Amino acid sequence: MNLKQVAGEKAASYIKDGMIVGLGTGSTAYYFTKKIGELVKEGLKVKCIPTSKDTKKLAKEWNIPLTELAQVDHIDVTVDGADEVDPDFNLIKGGGGALLREKIIAYASKKLIIVVDKTKMVEILGKFPLPVEVTTFAWENTLSQIERLGCKATLRRSADQPFITDNDNYILDCQFDKIENPAELNSKLNQIPGVVENGLFIDMADLVVVGKDTTVEIVE
Ligand code: 5RP
Repeated sequence: MNLKQVAGEKAASYIKDGMIVGLGTGSTAYYFTKKIGELVKEGLKVKCIPTSKDTKKLAKEWNIPLTELAQVDHIDVTVDGADEVDPDFNLIKGGGGALLREKIIAYASKKLIIVVDKTKMVEILGKFPLPVEVTTFAWENTLSQIERLGCKATLRRSADQPFITDNDNYILDCQFDKIENPAELNSKLNQIPGVVENGLFIDMADLVVVGKDTTVEIVE
């Protein structure tokens, strides 16, 4: 079994009948969603809210009952992946480009469980380029404003075209190398007009399930 699968499937053990569940995006969250599909087939009663169009498609394929954030007043648990996790559980997310919906859903969740393989655990965030979702309008100007915060920013592309998010925005991948103060950077980024949201998740994760060879480590 690969490390992402070990972590993703383990997180399904936190899901109980009657819960409203946020379904994350990416190759690790994939295994969680797949496992939920299997458990639903066996009789698990949950309602789920996907964090992206891709995850919604998977959930539909696996007959997972879905609802909308507007239809509920809270989410019990969301399980999602991450690109980096620091010792204080600050995260970089958005490698898959779904950071805005992921952050909205994480914020509405009573519990956020992060599923990663061991390579994602870092001492300091920033080696992974921080994804920042920006408006398509004047994105070049927004890029310059972001670079003033000390990074090199690049417009994300897919098949030679700018990558378009589920919310019709662009993503700038911002290479900071070391993010000494993630909370401060999070608020500075979100003060720039043109920035829709950034991939720093501060003080949001409650528990991290880390896939390690054949075992998992639960970090709380
Ligand atoms: C998508 C995300 C993903 O959760 C993150 O990129 C990790 O992905 P993977 O599990 O495929 O490594 O934030 O926007």
